[in-house]
Amino acid sequence: MSVFDRGFLFADAVYEVTAVIEGALVDFDAHQRRLERSLGELGIEFDGSAVDLRAIHRELLARNQLDEGLIYLQLTRGCADRSFVRPETATPSLVLFTQSMSLIDHADARRGLRVVTRPDLRWHRRDIKTTQLLYPSLMKSEAVAAGVDDVWMTEGGYVTEASSSNAHILTTDGRLITRPLSNDILHGITRAAVLEYARESGVTVEERPFTPAEALTAKEAFNTSATAFVTPVIELDGQAIGEGQPGEATARLRELYIDQSR
Ligand code: PDD
Repeated sequence: MSVFDRGFLFADAVYEVTAVIEGALVDFDAHQRRLERSLGELGIEFDGSAVDLRAIHRELLARNQLDEGLIYLQLTRGCADRSFVRPETATPSLVLFTQSMSLIDHADARRGLRVVTRPDLRWHRRDIKTTQLLYPSLMKSEAVAAGVDDVWMTEGGYVTEASSSNAHILTTDGRLITRPLSNDILHGITRAAVLEYARESGVTVEERPFTPAEALTAKEAFNTSATAFVTPVIELDGQAIGEGQPGEATARLRELYIDQSR
């Protein structure tokens, strides 16, 4: 990678993280659609027809003999002399790597996460999956240094999302509450799949913002992401959510998601 790559100098880059279970990609097409949307929103011209990304993913899985873990893909606008004006023409840089990790059997799913609220000070196009991850990385690092697991970021009194996952609550009468899609949050691929499976299994889904105070009245709470799947959240700002331990409904949703993703 050149030091003049705009991904390096300006975070002028988008990425995707796709889970791999039993050697197979989870929801590859949905990740590709979101990648194309992110590229379109930033005006990064990448000729997807000239590069078979699915074939590259498969070859990487085979070469690295990856059974479970993730594939990271990053596409930058490319190289140019450093300037705040983006170049009219540049050749995007494409980087992929795999990471072997246990996703299904994970301590976070057994223990549940303790989170703290922090103001959401990211830019306002969180729907674009850019590599500008400094703020959520700082927030999560501070949370871990303080002895908890993650943050739920808030804006205008409502929860937006966690540092790298979408946030959801389950009410005492079994409804699933989750923030609706907008520029305020990343349009999680896992979120979409989990909402679909939840609806199919008879759960009422309400897409509306919720406050930390409402979360503390919830029966259960959870985060979703490509690598966390469905992970219980058991504590918010030092107070227990529900029983303060991973709940049954969250465990069912996690199982449902994993079963459907195999
Ligand atoms: N993060 N919200 C944010 C801010 C995220 O960074 C992510 C994903 C999600 C969940 O999206 P999905 O279900 O499509 O993974 C929500 C990835 C996993 C990461 O940065 O490693």
